[in-house]
Amino acid sequence: MDYSWALDFLKTLEKASITTELKKKELVTLLAADPNDSKLLFNLADRVRAQYMSNAVHLRGIIEISNYCRQNCHYCGLRCDNKKLGRYRLSYEEIYKTAEEAVNIGYKTLVLQAGEDNHYSPLEIALLIKAIKKLDVAITLSLGEHDYETYGLWREAGADRYLLKHETADPVLYQKIRPGKTLEERLKCQTWLKELGYQLGSGCMVGLPGQTLDTLAQDLLLLKKMAVEMAGIGPFIPHPDTPLAASKGGSLEMTLKMVALARIIMPLVHLPSTTALGTIHPQGRELALQGGANVVMPNVSPSQYRELYQIYPNKICVKDEPEHCKSCITGKILALGRTIGTDYGHSPKLQGGY
Ligand code: 5AD
Ligand code: SF4
Ligand code: FES
Repeated sequence: MDYSWALDFLKTLEKASITTELKKKELVTLLAADPNDSKLLFNLADRVRAQYMSNAVHLRGIIEISNYCRQNCHYCGLRCDNKKLGRYRLSYEEIYKTAEEAVNIGYKTLVLQAGEDNHYSPLEIALLIKAIKKLDVAITLSLGEHDYETYGLWREAGADRYLLKHETADPVLYQKIRPGKTLEERLKCQTWLKELGYQLGSGCMVGLPGQTLDTLAQDLLLLKKMAVEMAGIGPFIPHPDTPLAASKGGSLEMTLKMVALARIIMPLVHLPSTTALGTIHPQGRELALQGGANVVMPNVSPSQYRELYQIYPNKICVKDEPEHCKSCITGKILALGRTIGTDYGHSPKLQGGY
């Protein structure tokens, strides 16, 4: 029996427990751990999370304001070429009312999410941000790529955070699955967002076709290099009405390893336990919370539209009312011995000013 690989794993794990500076090769060694050994990785990530981020899990309510999208990403059900999907967009009044309801059931952060939909003018979104901010909540925008001026306008209107995932750190794969787009442009947008003082959320999918352990390690190093405040890491789930319908998709195990390593190399980052993880495994979200994650983002969109925001199939909670999800997830979090965050849940990397 050759134990050299196991020794290498243990040595690297030991290094991970004393430094956040891991090299690509070391990340690959840890990502290659077999299911018995990866438990050690999850335990380490949980210890790092407890030490740096407290016991609180932050809840962010997502309002999916429109499922129109001008982009054609190969992996996503909202892509413009998917003619099978019924499209909707919420009016200004509907968005505001949904926000009010979410605040009334206790959310301290609201995420306004949509495909890249040109229907709303930058000014209209700015006015909405101003109005919602008066409800005393933090606002995260997840509205895709826009120019510097638009991002600036929204920031000035009061938006606190922006979620724009880099999706994959492999520039060749990126161009293949996001036709007409480049990783470089994406990172340019992220740089602008940081410059404008947003707390930046990025992230990637796990299990894209053609992705290797090397690419995944690159994803982690890119998140660290961009100094993100939040990293959303979820499994890729093939959608039947997209070019990647026949792909395999990401596994629970590999996604959990990515979340754990993100915690280990970026102790102060907010890490959501994603809905996609809860979709591929009934205990997915709980397992991520026990392996480094500290955020959950339940859906608070009006129920008649929820099924139409079909980025991937079989999404959990599409038939559940916001109040139900809030108490359901609260119960699950408390059962893990954790608490629910009671403040805005800003990044602990920020000192004052928020
Ligand atoms: N499976 C999992 N996640 C997906 N996303 C888009 N399509 C899929 C899919 N099929 C994620 C991307 C994107 C966000 C809107 O949803 O990471 O940033
Ligand atoms: Fe549009 Fe985002 Fe889906 Fe791409 S991933 S098609 S930009 S909603
Ligand atoms: Fe939606 Fe449990 S979180 S039903």
